[in-house]
Amino acid sequence: MTINTLIFTEDEKDIKKAAEIIKNGGLVAFPTETVYGLGANAFCPEAVSDIFKAKGRPSDNPLIVHVSSKGMIDELVSEKTPVAEALIENFMPGPITVIMKKNSRVGDEVTAGLDTVAVRFPKNETARALIEFSGVPIAAPSANLSGKPSPTEARHVIADMSGRVECIIAGGACEAGVESTVVDATGDVPVILRPGIITEIDIKRAVSEVLVDENVLTPVSADKTPKSPGMKYKHYAPDADVYVVEGDKDKVKAKIYELLSENKDKKCGVLVLDDNSYSADIVFSAGKNNKEYAHNLFTRLREFDEAGAELVFAEFTEFDEYALTVKNRLYKSAGNKVIIV
Ligand code: TXA
Ligand code: MG
Repeated sequence: MTINTLIFTEDEKDIKKAAEIIKNGGLVAFPTETVYGLGANAFCPEAVSDIFKAKGRPSDNPLIVHVSSKGMIDELVSEKTPVAEALIENFMPGPITVIMKKNSRVGDEVTAGLDTVAVRFPKNETARALIEFSGVPIAAPSANLSGKPSPTEARHVIADMSGRVECIIAGGACEAGVESTVVDATGDVPVILRPGIITEIDIKRAVSEVLVDENVLTPVSADKTPKSPGMKYKHYAPDADVYVVEGDKDKVKAKIYELLSENKDKKCGVLVLDDNSYSADIVFSAGKNNKEYAHNLFTRLREFDEAGAELVFAEFTEFDEYALTVKNRLYKSAGNKVIIV
């Protein structure tokens, strides 16, 4: 079924109309400081199941619930561990998602049957106003079709979600451009399930100890249940076939030129970090450093498709604080085709 999708601005009166749609059980795509989200009333099971239909998302992949105040978190959880308290205190509102034990108000359709709930308090004013005017917590995954790169600009959401949702609030480009850091805070030590702009170092500074889940980079093997169901799915994939070429800058460049000459019959793109001397069919800059790479990656992946690239070689050459965040997304967009030189 095709829905007539309304495109709204970030004006207060538009956000109030969008909040009415949420209250009535409809779907609203909205900007956050990370990526655009696709929201519904978290306490309305039918509306939540419509999110899965609109995205084509597997129903065993749980959603993040968004709140507009710290007090609202208590409407969702049965327990806040000291680790959860510290993460909330230090990083909310902001680009972090904290996993806690859920209470009975949070339905199985939101958590995919898990006894935990992922909670995020965004910093973005529009996102916060939408939740506040709706008066309910908003369940929202990223507003892309399942498997596609997360949307960082309104036009990406319009491309993926037109005809599938009641309304899209078209704001500007997202500040971070990469999704929130997901942290399991149900135990004594926080565990990063998905790295983001809030890094392992930031969390260590606040909570003293932190672990990184083994499946952040390696694919989940078929016989195992990942801690975060989203880890096992194909993600962020453009139409082009992506290869990551990782290692020392000079060696990476030599390898990419070798790959380009082996694939002269295909339209090839290169995603380059801090270098404007490449020559290939399509050359896009990922930025000057890994933080910019994280910000630009999803946008560039969509641009390679717009430019008709069949193959994309993505450089990975910097091994700093943001390396894990970039690599986590890059490896997935490449379906783990990584060439280490
Ligand atoms: O920045 C973000 O987090 C964006 C914006 C819209 O807030 N949202 C987002 O949602 O990226 P989504 O659905 O694309 O990714 C949520 C991730 C998935 O990998 C999912 O498996 C995991 O969080 N997740 C959700 N609930 C969980 C839970 N209870 N336990 C473990 N992982 C969970
Ligand atoms: Mg997503």
